[in-house]
Amino acid sequence: MQSAVKQGKQNVFVQKSTDKTATIGMICLDAPPVNALSGDKGIPQAIAAAVQEFDADPAIKAIAIYAAGRFYSAGADIAEFRGNPATDAAPLRSLFEALDASQTPVVLAMHGVAFGGGLEVALAAHYRIAEAKTKLGLPEVSLGLLPGGGGTQRLPRLIAMDKAVEMIITGRPVSAAQALENGLVDALFDGDARAAVLDFATKIINENKPVRRSRDQEIAAFDPAIFDTTATKLAKTAHRNPGPMKALDCLREAAQGPFERSLTFEHRAFDALMEHPQTKGICHAFLGERTAVKIPGLEGQKTSRSMDSVAIIGAGTMGVGIALACMKAGLQTLLLDLKDEALERARANVERQLAGQVKKGRLSQDRADAQLALLTLSTSFADMGDADVIIEAVFEDLGVKESVFRQIDAIAKPGALLASNTSTLDVNLIAAFTNRPQDVVGLHFFSPANIMRLLEIIRADDTSADTLLASAEFARKIGKVGVVVGVCDGFVGNRIFEEYLRQAYLLLEEGATPEDIDGAMEQWGWAMGALKVMDLAGQDIGWAIRKRRKVEQPDRPYSTFPDQICELGWYGQKTGRGYYNYPEGVRGGATNPDVLPMLQAHSIALGLIRRTVTAEEVVERTLLAMINEGAKILEEGIAYRPVDIDVIYLNGYGFGRDRGGPMFQADLMGLKTVLARLEELSKGREGWALKPAAILYRMQEQGLSFADLNAGKTVQTDMQE
Ligand code: 3HC
Repeated sequence: MQSAVKQGKQNVFVQKSTDKTATIGMICLDAPPVNALSGDKGIPQAIAAAVQEFDADPAIKAIAIYAAGRFYSAGADIAEFRGNPATDAAPLRSLFEALDASQTPVVLAMHGVAFGGGLEVALAAHYRIAEAKTKLGLPEVSLGLLPGGGGTQRLPRLIAMDKAVEMIITGRPVSAAQALENGLVDALFDGDARAAVLDFATKIINENKPVRRSRDQEIAAFDPAIFDTTATKLAKTAHRNPGPMKALDCLREAAQGPFERSLTFEHRAFDALMEHPQTKGICHAFLGERTAVKIPGLEGQKTSRSMDSVAIIGAGTMGVGIALACMKAGLQTLLLDLKDEALERARANVERQLAGQVKKGRLSQDRADAQLALLTLSTSFADMGDADVIIEAVFEDLGVKESVFRQIDAIAKPGALLASNTSTLDVNLIAAFTNRPQDVVGLHFFSPANIMRLLEIIRADDTSADTLLASAEFARKIGKVGVVVGVCDGFVGNRIFEEYLRQAYLLLEEGATPEDIDGAMEQWGWAMGALKVMDLAGQDIGWAIRKRRKVEQPDRPYSTFPDQICELGWYGQKTGRGYYNYPEGVRGGATNPDVLPMLQAHSIALGLIRRTVTAEEVVERTLLAMINEGAKILEEGIAYRPVDIDVIYLNGYGFGRDRGGPMFQADLMGLKTVLARLEELSKGREGWALKPAAILYRMQEQGLSFADLNAGKTVQTDMQE
């Protein structure tokens, strides 16, 4: 007997059948790609209904649940977290109730991955088995949440409290072998989940095994000190992610019992987190990183080009970082430079970095050796003829790039991906140095290129669709988040960064100290404040850009205070002085006592009376500048979607994950507030820099948020209206 629970027009996500003896009720979850327990698709409801129907059938002696596809389940559907606890979590909770109410034993088989709500369904089943390579975990805390489907209540009833605390607080999965050892599962199997669950269910029937609910089991004795010691450890990070501490509270409650009361406590805590702006930010980041790598119009398409070998031209810091990233991904890596000495230095640098990773225990010696074996060094451009991908990482000068690209064009094989790592130059001009502009793209890495996850993929006018697909595939292969953007000065990331820095410098002139600025930003969620970033990157780089800007954009004046710092030769960390001092052994910089008197003199020279600048003002003004520039970037079509901007900031600039990105923040503030504040600030000092982008007015008129644009809605222009 076989029946299917149909949802929508044709999709079947839950199949119901019986075995050939008609004594085992089989329920198969089949909802690609990850068997998420989507309430909108009716999945938990359908499983609950199937359990109830089988339970009511006297012929059915056991119920067996398993899943089809590459793994069992990724848990609740994160895309459905709309911050409405009453509806978001209800369908899943009704499934747990159905499992608890069943008088017929329920066996559940997991394979591949059993995460979050998926594992919680298993915890509520009466017997659990797992395929030997399964990873079982409750990763909710990494989304700023806690296991809200009874996980914090059932897990400590099945495994020792210290192990339950560890699994839930860290979100780290355990292996199937560990799960068997600690009592999380009853047996392991190899091969097909359907056959295994059928065998186990038959055994249950033959051995007359009873219904065995996790909710009825006693929590084994444990040392209650674990709660306080864990809370002390969590206190340092709780302000960035509220999930783990709340999860610990739920575990504490579980120990008090009774089950029903502490389960209600867990549900309330979960519901409150769903509405928490930081949790929303983290969930936005999770889904955003998976959206921003998709190229609109090319979804589901793949390149036919191979991406197995890379040639990198330029053996400086950036070239070495790119080479390390490629070697780590197992690509044949050729590093080219004109001079032997440069290559020798590069090899020493690569070896030093690999040895450092081995020393820190992050890499085995064997793997370091294997990575190093992938590296070839050469001074001859002729050697790059076979490379699938060629990346230019030479000095940022159009003349130098021209000479390099003409040589690449002469030697590269047909179909090779030709990339420039320029951070400022026009990729259209670079593409025009070749006879194959369709194969040319910008690949903007962020330093250190082997660590930073962001890769801006810059599409020039003639870049072909397949070249974009190949670039996205290359990014994926080397573990980067590749976001496609258009050509403009600074592309998306640095263009926004310039406006954000502009406000930071203006605030310095008005009364803030570097510590005020960086302290406010870091407290709010940035990995590093703007001025510390400049000290790290090297003040001379910003100085060169400002000199260029003075000529190119005389109507957009910049604070001259950073120039004064540079004139003293204070380039930041590399010279031991910048906005901060960097004495040997002091991490993160110490106050530079000369900066404040310089600032005071500078403010007087500008006719400004220094005032107190609050942390809120620092955060608000810099953020508004970013939002406004982001809006202009969207208006010009340089970024496809607001979420692309968010993902660029989360992965390349240390924007706090719990803050979700600048455009996400704009939605949290509300467009009305954003516009009102920008209008207000644009009447103040250097107000031109915060004059609201026209698109913001149109969005407000049309009632659109940035989330709406992410969902595919478009802003109508005057002409369309
Ligand atoms: N909900 C909705 N979509 C999900 C999802 C989920 N739980 N998990 C993954 N997806 C989506 C991804 O967005 C992606 O979408 P796309 O096809 O549009 O790009 C697709 O599934 C594939 O995901 P990945 O690219 O991440 O695939 P991988 O094979 O690399 O990884 C995974 C699979 C290990 C399951 C990984 O996706 C993952 O860790 N997912 C999150 C798991 C999680 O955090 N679960 C807890 C959810 S909260 C919960 O259950 C609450 C409960 O306690 C009440």
